[in-house]
Amino acid sequence: MEKHVKKVALITGANKGLGLEIARQLGQQGLAVVLAARHGKANAPAAELRAQGLDARAVELDVTNAADIAALPTFLEEHFGRLDVLVNNAGVQLDTGFDVSPDTLRQTYEANVVGPYAITQALLPLLRQAPAGRIVNQSSILGSLTAISQGQGGSWATPGYTSSKAALNMLTVVLAQHLAGTSIKVNAAHPGWVQTDLGGAEAPLSVAEGAQTAVRLALLPADGPTGGYFHNAEHLPW
Ligand SMILES: NC(=O)c1ccc[n+]([C@@H]2O[C@H](COP(=O)([O-])OP(=O)(O)OC[C@H]3O[C@@H](n4cnc5c(N)ncnc54)[C@H](OP(=O)(O)O)[C@@H]3O)[C@@H](O)[C@H]2O)c1
Repeated sequence: MEKHVKKVALITGANKGLGLEIARQLGQQGLAVVLAARHGKANAPAAELRAQGLDARAVELDVTNAADIAALPTFLEEHFGRLDVLVNNAGVQLDTGFDVSPDTLRQTYEANVVGPYAITQALLPLLRQAPAGRIVNQSSILGSLTAISQGQGGSWATPGYTSSKAALNMLTVVLAQHLAGTSIKVNAAHPGWVQTDLGGAEAPLSVAEGAQTAVRLALLPADGPTGGYFHNAEHLPW
């Protein structure tokens, strides 16, 4: 098909929480947004965004499902002919204490590390064709070796979630190095502690506030950073 005139962003885990809000804010900035979620859960939120006048479409994506991932490039080619922004937002926190089973660790890594890696690998050819491709990996301050080694994680510093986000951080750096000299920028985001199902009701930040870091990184200008780790404009230590 003809190339879509608008920039196109795909956001994973976009049925609720931060992912849905990132999609909303990118849509409000004039991008066409593709809400990716599993089990048909993106359909209703995409319709909700369209009712708000935004250019939104749903796609089926379990980030641990190889067939769903393999279908993404064709879906994007057919409907838009382009992809400018990928936000790897979907994530799980399955461990609540220190004694985490290997199976729980494996499940955590499938969703938080292997999924984003495979999705990025599948979509990189399209992103390379974009004039200013942007990849945002939704990490957490809990993935910071510096923060955790200084005791900043408290009871949230469980082995599975923290190490999966640290691995995602390293994938961010490795990919940014690999793409140095191209127009693609790759960065990791810490949204802050945000009121979502994952963050809990006592979190200090609203979803709208929490989405801002990923949105900022998705819209970085040509002279913006790559291979960094940010909360809002603040550069975080790995
Ligand atoms: N909230 C915070 O304070 C906070 C802080 C730091 C980092 N983060 C990160 O922000 C991201 C979004 O979290 P949130 O706070 O918005 O939590 P949330 O409301 O629980 O949303 C998590 C999203 O990830 C999706 N997801 C999980 N596993 C998936 C899979 N296998 N395939 C497809 N989608 C999957 C969920 O879909 P389902 O509804 O289908 O499960 C949901 O859309 C996560 O990566 C999280 O680690 C959050």
